[in-house]
Amino acid sequence: MPTTRPPSLRHPAVVALLDVLEVDADTFATVLELCEGGDLDGLMREHKARGTLPEREARCLMVQIFSGLRYLASRRIIHYDLKPANILFDSLGQAKITDFGLSKMVSEGQTQAGIELTSQGAGTYWYLPPEAFETGGPAPPRISNKLDVWSAGVIFYSLLYGKKPYGESMSQEQMLRERVMAVQREVEFPARPTVSPEAKDFIRRCLAWQQDARPDVEAAATDPYLVGGPAAAAAAAAATAGAGGAGSGATGQQAAGAGHGIGRGMSLGLGTVLNSRR
Ligand SMILES: Nc1ncnc2c1ncn2[C@@H]1O[C@H](COP(=O)(O)OP(=O)(O)O)[C@@H](O)[C@H]1O
Ligand SMILES: [Mg+2]
Repeated sequence: MPTTRPPSLRHPAVVALLDVLEVDADTFATVLELCEGGDLDGLMREHKARGTLPEREARCLMVQIFSGLRYLASRRIIHYDLKPANILFDSLGQAKITDFGLSKMVSEGQTQAGIELTSQGAGTYWYLPPEAFETGGPAPPRISNKLDVWSAGVIFYSLLYGKKPYGESMSQEQMLRERVMAVQREVEFPARPTVSPEAKDFIRRCLAWQQDARPDVEAAATDPYLVGGPAAAAAAAAATAGAGGAGSGATGQQAAGAGHGIGRGMSLGLGTVLNSRR
């Protein structure tokens, strides 16, 4: 019996594991739900030729991805390799997280302190946070599901701007050699295309260099920007500022100006994305 049999996962935004076939004592094969709609990497390539994804469609995808991450976090799973090639679409256009080849299970009680990262060097560097690159300390770095929040932030940025926030024109080896993640501590946004200040603030939260300052999956998945769109996020920020906190300086003016939360339009937006695939 394999001791590392994968847990069965059932969620609309996670590729379902239908069966596990034992090949021999050390090997098993998995039978996965078929996703016929291609992957996000392909979708982004197609879009790049014509521009980037509009914010409302990109946000709609992030809502789906974070719903999957939230489920995984509830099962104490850190995906560790979240990137566009590992996000598939079914025939209805529902995004599904796949490829648990590098995933880690956090045991009960370890959730607060995080787990030691013992497999450094694995993964896809453009999508990994600074803590995944830490070396030279007395013990391996500790990671938590905040690692997946960072990766999701990188994906959102890439959807909006058509380029990655860190190491866009670099190879993985270059990124390591030039210590990109150790040097660049603040994400920069291109002037174009126009993206709401609330989306940028959400990305800044996801890409907080310090793990302590970064929301975990639960907090990011329930972020006012994801739940209600730019207008809701602006209102939440204004309420925080109004309550005497320093807030992020959002004003009523910004809240009104950014009023294009998508709510009911969400599935419509995604439909557009998918139609344009064909
Ligand atoms: N359930 C699936 N349905 C359709 N295509 C899939 C499915 N699982 C994987 N693929 C395709 O195969 C590619 C590689 O699979 P993945 O599980 O990511 O393995 P790895 O990246 O470790 O080789 C995916 O990017 C996707 O294009
Ligand atoms: Mg993969």
